[in-house]
Amino acid sequence: PHHYRIASIPADGIGIEVVSAAIEVVEKLSKVLGVFTIEFTHIPWGTEYYKQNGRYVSADVLDTLRGYDASLFGSVGAPDVPDHISLWGLLLAIRGPLQLYANVRPVRVFPGTTPYLRGAEAKDIDWLLVRENSEGEYAGHGGTSHIDQPWETATEVAIFTRVGIERIMRFAFEAAQRRPRKLLTVVTKSNSMRNGLVLWDKIAAEVSKDFPDVKWDKMLVDAMTIRMVTNPKSLDTIVGTNLHMDILSDLAAALAGSIGIAPSSNLDPTRKNPSLFEPVHGSAFDITGKGIANPIATFWSAAEMLDWLGEPGAAKYLITALENVCAAGITTPDLGGNSTTKGVTDAVIKEIEKLHAAAA
Ligand code: NAD
Ligand code: IPM
Ligand code: MN
Repeated sequence: PHHYRIASIPADGIGIEVVSAAIEVVEKLSKVLGVFTIEFTHIPWGTEYYKQNGRYVSADVLDTLRGYDASLFGSVGAPDVPDHISLWGLLLAIRGPLQLYANVRPVRVFPGTTPYLRGAEAKDIDWLLVRENSEGEYAGHGGTSHIDQPWETATEVAIFTRVGIERIMRFAFEAAQRRPRKLLTVVTKSNSMRNGLVLWDKIAAEVSKDFPDVKWDKMLVDAMTIRMVTNPKSLDTIVGTNLHMDILSDLAAALAGSIGIAPSSNLDPTRKNPSLFEPVHGSAFDITGKGIANPIATFWSAAEMLDWLGEPGAAKYLITALENVCAAGITTPDLGGNSTTKGVTDAVIKEIEKLHAAAA
């Protein structure tokens, strides 16, 4: 069997709670299926590490991660550290530098759960959000001058490159092509943003020529929020900039039911660097330590990781277990249930055993 070495970076808040649950589930899956072995190595980066060492990650962060097949990440951010310090200290110190340029965020409604969107049926929301993950509004360029003066000035420079746009556009067209409906919506704001996002439109039109079987259209991001709410079933694959898709992915997750199930893959499609998998949500200060964080987003992220590593069968197995547990009504409060992180985790583990017994 294949052996996989995974860097586990739980970091902060509920990230710690959901990553340990996911490790338990994946280790169980590996034992039950017997087709792969997996070893998680705990990496202690996060706010505690920062308080002790003055930095969020070790100096050899990228080489450390390159020593693994993939990373499973929780969430970074703590109430007593400014968010831009924690985020640029850890997560954003990995995504860009490792060139994990494709952030893939599937959104759908699990059996037994109902969309938050009024009037929508479960089948109406089945989207694949593709987020540019290495440049744009997150390029990190900018600065502040005249600090504390009345004319204090700050810039936040978005950087868009042909290489950066073209590679994510190609990725999105390919992703759309693999889905049954083969629809792609390119989200921009190329009315007010007259440089970078006009380039997005231009490159979308160029790349589309290589995908004649993909039906594509363009939306301005403001109108896109309306369409997601009023005509969800008209959408399938969606691609957009780093910031636009950050926002739309939280909206999408909430419309479908809860941010608590939304997974994400930070991929290097060239496979030069190991990809990173994480729930879309953050540290959730309001529920940290209460034991009620929904672990499904991280379980689903782990399934995406197994698929990426070359274990699509195991990934599918895990997804089926998640669906069955949701269908049985065993959910955390964000999905309307009264179960706990541990309750859902134990139920998923039981379901994995049950599926295996049924197959044997
Ligand atoms: P958040 O995602 O942490 O929380 C938003 C809301 O969703 C909260 O009400 C929270 O309770 C709920 N929620 C989130 N995950 C949940 C889960 N698994 N189960 C049930 N409910 C869940 O967003 P925020 O409050 O804006 O951010 C809190 C901190 O997390 C900040 O420091 C922020 O910078 C950081 N953050 C980190 C990441 C990341 O590391 N990937 C992502 C987003 C936010
Ligand atoms: C996400 C998060 C991050 C982002 C933050 C925490 C830097 O919101 O992964 O969606 O903005 O990309
Ligand atoms: Mn976000």
